[in-house]
Amino acid sequence: VSRQESWRSQRDCSRGAAGITETRQHRRLRNIVVGKIILTGDRPTGRLHVGHYVGSLRRRVELQNSGEYSDIYIMIADSQALTDNADNPEKVRQNILEVALDYLSAGLDPEKSTIFIQSMVPELYEMTAYFMDIVTVSRLQRNPTVKSEIQMRNFEASIPVGFFTYPISQAADITAFKANVVPAGEDQMPMVEQTREIVHKFNTVYNTDTLVMPDILLPSNDACRRLPGTDGKAKMSKSLGNCIYLSDTEEDVKKKVMSMYTDPNHLKVSDPGQVEGNTVFTYLDAFCKDEYFAEFWPDYKNLDEVKEHYKRGGLGDVKVKKFLNRVLEEELRPIRERRKRWEQDIPAVYEILKSGSEKAERVAAQTLKEMRAAMKINYFDDAALIAEQSEKYNGQ
Ligand code: TRP
Repeated sequence: VSRQESWRSQRDCSRGAAGITETRQHRRLRNIVVGKIILTGDRPTGRLHVGHYVGSLRRRVELQNSGEYSDIYIMIADSQALTDNADNPEKVRQNILEVALDYLSAGLDPEKSTIFIQSMVPELYEMTAYFMDIVTVSRLQRNPTVKSEIQMRNFEASIPVGFFTYPISQAADITAFKANVVPAGEDQMPMVEQTREIVHKFNTVYNTDTLVMPDILLPSNDACRRLPGTDGKAKMSKSLGNCIYLSDTEEDVKKKVMSMYTDPNHLKVSDPGQVEGNTVFTYLDAFCKDEYFAEFWPDYKNLDEVKEHYKRGGLGDVKVKKFLNRVLEEELRPIRERRKRWEQDIPAVYEILKSGSEKAERVAAQTLKEMRAAMKINYFDDAALIAEQSEKYNGQ
């Protein structure tokens, strides 16, 4: 084997998980055979609400149970939460458990999905640092989600650097697991777009196919994409007090539904009502199934019939709200019951997070190793480099 050849084969090979030397072509094949990999996650800044549920969580559970995915990673993004909560670590710490409980009660199954904590996978930080070298400041400034978050938090000139660069760390989250599917809400579109640019740039600059191009998987209908708060405001937020949480009691939910924002001009039952922008109907669009009519409201066959009646006039808000409450109760009861069971065994929840984080770290370490080889910073693994340089100084 000539020196040139041995150098090339070293460069093109890396050690697979099984310790078998793998060529680039094998690696490409493995990515195809392995198939579809999911990564997604949430910042642990509060309990999850019904907006998270219809926007992403319900879908994750369906994807998990479809059997179509070879690996599913669900990340609790604590370090991302710290980028704008540096002075409030206790909040982040407490909410890791809340989010984990919400995941498990929504039906994520630790046997099928790897649930882990972001900061427990330090490889993600190293990857972020390398990605920072191939992203410009002006590109980050153009990220629309970051732009509006900066406004919302009144950061202006006092943006923490970590917050400003979190789209880059999100690219590390996604690529570390070679995820090709990212189920998430519309607000995450700019993050996945930026990740795609990073993947393209990294693979081009370092002449490799280590990183996998991801696609976002958006919620299927508009109501699920943007579920409003119970007051009709576009954004559900704890500070506005307009959220229905997955962990709310039956009474909480009922109270919130009965005081929901509807059509402010629908004063008398006989008045024609408006369905667009009417929160009760938006929630029904997100939650209602036809089978609920036979069970709870046999006067109608489906939601379209209810909407028609409401628009014509003669259907009061209270009736529609009572139906919505039944529907929500039906959807949320199993979640609430599963949560009660998990709450009895908090140490088991931490065990799940721990073993999930260990698995996640193994996978991320493998990707990082491949990245380091592509970037030629794998000095001590590269016997050919050392041999070649010895030759250069001591050869004939
Ligand atoms: N930014 C997401 C949120 O605010 C959380 C997150 C971090 C994430 N890394 C991710 C989502 C990677 C999808 C993929 O909820």
